[in-house]
Amino acid sequence: MSTLKIENLHVKVGEKEILRGIDLEIKTGEIHAIMGPNGNGKSTLLSAIMGHPKYIVTDGSITLDGQDVLSMGVDERARAGLFLGMQYPQEIPGVTNSDFLKAAMNARREEPISLFKFIRTLDKNIEELDMDENLAHRYLNEGFSGGEKKRNEILQMKLLQPKFALLDEIDSGLDVDALRVVSEAINSMRSDDFGCVMVSHYERLFELVVPTHVHVLVQGQIVMSGGYEVIEKIDHEGYEWVRELGIEIHQEEEKQPILLESCGKKEQLKHDK
Ligand SMILES: Nc1ncnc2c1ncn2[C@@H]1O[C@H](COP(=O)(O)OP(=O)(O)O)[C@@H](O)[C@H]1O
Ligand SMILES: [Mg+2]
Repeated sequence: MSTLKIENLHVKVGEKEILRGIDLEIKTGEIHAIMGPNGNGKSTLLSAIMGHPKYIVTDGSITLDGQDVLSMGVDERARAGLFLGMQYPQEIPGVTNSDFLKAAMNARREEPISLFKFIRTLDKNIEELDMDENLAHRYLNEGFSGGEKKRNEILQMKLLQPKFALLDEIDSGLDVDALRVVSEAINSMRSDDFGCVMVSHYERLFELVVPTHVHVLVQGQIVMSGGYEVIEKIDHEGYEWVRELGIEIHQEEEKQPILLESCGKKEQLKHDK
């Protein structure tokens, strides 16, 4: 069993303090959901764990099985078994998706993977994720639709087999079928050797990948933790109750427009069950 432990984490971006004392302990075998209104620090938390240079840790600690994560570079964190599925995956023209995937896999292995084994593993996962075969040969994320980018993040996770996956709004931009495929992929990773932190606004992801723990992050602090009942509370009441705890809610506009296709999704999911 592995443990990712975050203690009293303070993070700033530029001059602004975004995270103000986060405590979180995730063990392999557990899936933690993090919910919260936009602009309250969810992506900041995941990016800081992975070591994005824009996010400066000013206090606190992050350890993986007692090892100091904050002193590791991003590549070392990846080799140690951390993985970030990004909210807005980057487009990297000039690097094909399959070259990228092979390099990332090899970085975590003692011996480079044989081409035969790589292609077999890649093909199998591409099929399971119901992805277009051509995506492997195109430049990384370039011209991919929102949903293709998200599936590609999941493809990376499946190939890299991390100890801990941090998935940032992996459901945004996915239609109902894609959401089901992605949820099945995450569920197929569930084991005693895999832990996950999933950030999402929407209950429907957590209906499909049922978390073991749920946290609400507002204004850079975890204001409530519990089980599935926390998701139901938010689904019914929104975040107004947070104000009763004396905490102002930071409200930020969506940075990307809400896709029209996402509108009827929840109803349809309920209908489909
Ligand atoms: N790269 C950045 N540069 C400047 N401000 C940022 C950056 N990333 C995040 N912020 C600010 O930090 C706050 C938290 O953002 P974020 O962690 O992305 O929130 P969430 O993921 O909960 O929507 C917001 O006020 C946002 O504007
Ligand atoms: Mg975010």
